[in-house]
Amino acid sequence: MSTTVHISQQKPWDVTTDLVIVGHFEEAPLEGVLKELDTRLKGSLSDAVARGECSGQWLSEWTTATLGSIKPRRVLVLGLGPQSDFSLRELRLASGAVAQAALKQKAARVAWLVPDVGRDPAEIAEAATDGLLVGSWKFAGYHAQPETEPSLQEALLLGLGEEAQAGVTRGQVVARSENFARELGMRPSNKLYPELLAEEAVKVGQEHGFDVEVLDQNKMRELGMEAILGVGSGSVHPPRMVIMRYNGGGRTLALVGKGITFDSGGISLKPGLGMEEMKFDMLGAAAVLGAMAALSDLKVPLNVVGIMALAQNMPSGSAYKPGDVVKAFNGKTIEVTNTDAEGRVVLSDAVSYAAHLGVDWIVETSTLTGAAITVLGHEATCLVATNDALASLVLQASEAALERVWRLPIYPEYRRLYRSSVADIKNSPGREAGTITAGMIIAEFAGDVPYAHLDIAGSAWTPCTPLNQTKNGPTGVMVRTFVKLSDMLSR
Ligand code: BES
Ligand code: ZN
Ligand code: MN
Repeated sequence: MSTTVHISQQKPWDVTTDLVIVGHFEEAPLEGVLKELDTRLKGSLSDAVARGECSGQWLSEWTTATLGSIKPRRVLVLGLGPQSDFSLRELRLASGAVAQAALKQKAARVAWLVPDVGRDPAEIAEAATDGLLVGSWKFAGYHAQPETEPSLQEALLLGLGEEAQAGVTRGQVVARSENFARELGMRPSNKLYPELLAEEAVKVGQEHGFDVEVLDQNKMRELGMEAILGVGSGSVHPPRMVIMRYNGGGRTLALVGKGITFDSGGISLKPGLGMEEMKFDMLGAAAVLGAMAALSDLKVPLNVVGIMALAQNMPSGSAYKPGDVVKAFNGKTIEVTNTDAEGRVVLSDAVSYAAHLGVDWIVETSTLTGAAITVLGHEATCLVATNDALASLVLQASEAALERVWRLPIYPEYRRLYRSSVADIKNSPGREAGTITAGMIIAEFAGDVPYAHLDIAGSAWTPCTPLNQTKNGPTGVMVRTFVKLSDMLSR
């Protein structure tokens, strides 16, 4: 069951809910709503503040039963940290904490007095709605006895006028897509392999109104996509290339995603410890699919082509091997020095196919390098771009979407690292500047089209956060940035 979000003009003490949540900034005196609430609670809040139980510290919680003194059954005062640090990003995270608290208290209905961050009401409502819905999502799993705990059914946003409704609607559309991408990420690779993910795309296209074309092995062989065929050749589940077309008019943006439904490393096998996480190696493709659904719903006036490069990277007698040379769709050849650097190999076909379609921009995302985690940890996405104008648009879009992206440089000196003596490029240049060379290698297949690469190896799944109950759970990252970017490019 998913949560619905509504705007309500009611006062926090007048809403009939299981739980009402009000924010409190660090070191801020109890004024306005908090003061009125304190009076109605017969001073128990000011008492808690005096005893240091309710400090306003970031995401600290003080909660009490109301025992009939006001309409809601319980009150929770949520610490918002210092007011000077509180922006839309913090509002989104705090709203995630609101959802988590409601789930923990088994509240079916929660009301959240949205703190003012001095921005447009629709923007505030969108951030709050997104935080609530991303924060209340949970993967159902495959238990014989499914969990029957009541989930959070309704969230009321207090303190916002009806002019914020557009933001709620937008937040609902986008969060639904983010959670869908996360859902796909959680599915293990025996239940989500290339054919099945391609089928999902067909279903989503029918539901949201965009065209979906699936290229199978035969079609890809005909087109000369030896690279993705090579990566997929070790698996009993053959690769797929999925081409999605949303026609909103105007110029054309290509969104390309890496969809390795499982990355064992192939013949260059990965170590066993933690290998199960490599079911997440399709989160780039999932972000593209999610974004396609959202921007169709939002009727963004732009043409968008979404491409998912789907394969399962497995070792077997038929697997591609170190030393193999494959030719990509655009004719460039790749020497495979490490079968575990498979993302750039499948993307060489996907990106050169996008360029061949005559698009105006190519933005690609992938869980591409462990080095991206070394650089920025789980806090941000690495950007490698050949075009400054596009890079700056992507950075602006990500900022507006409250997703952190940091650009890395491209220096021509790095090129020697991926030179090969037997092919145009080798796929695994080694550790030096690993995230950058990966992006530069894929850029070789974009031709003259402005190209941006977003490495989400660190940001696509993260340890426990206010928005992520599951340890090492998927985040749905890049869905919001892609939607914002489409918006910006349509102007
Ligand atoms: N899917 C991995 C990258 C990855 C690693 C994502 C850890 C998230 C967490 C990718 O296919 C890979 O194996 N990359 C190699 C590239 C190397 C062989 C050049 C890597 O990063 O070690
Ligand atoms: Zn991979
Ligand atoms: Mn790999």
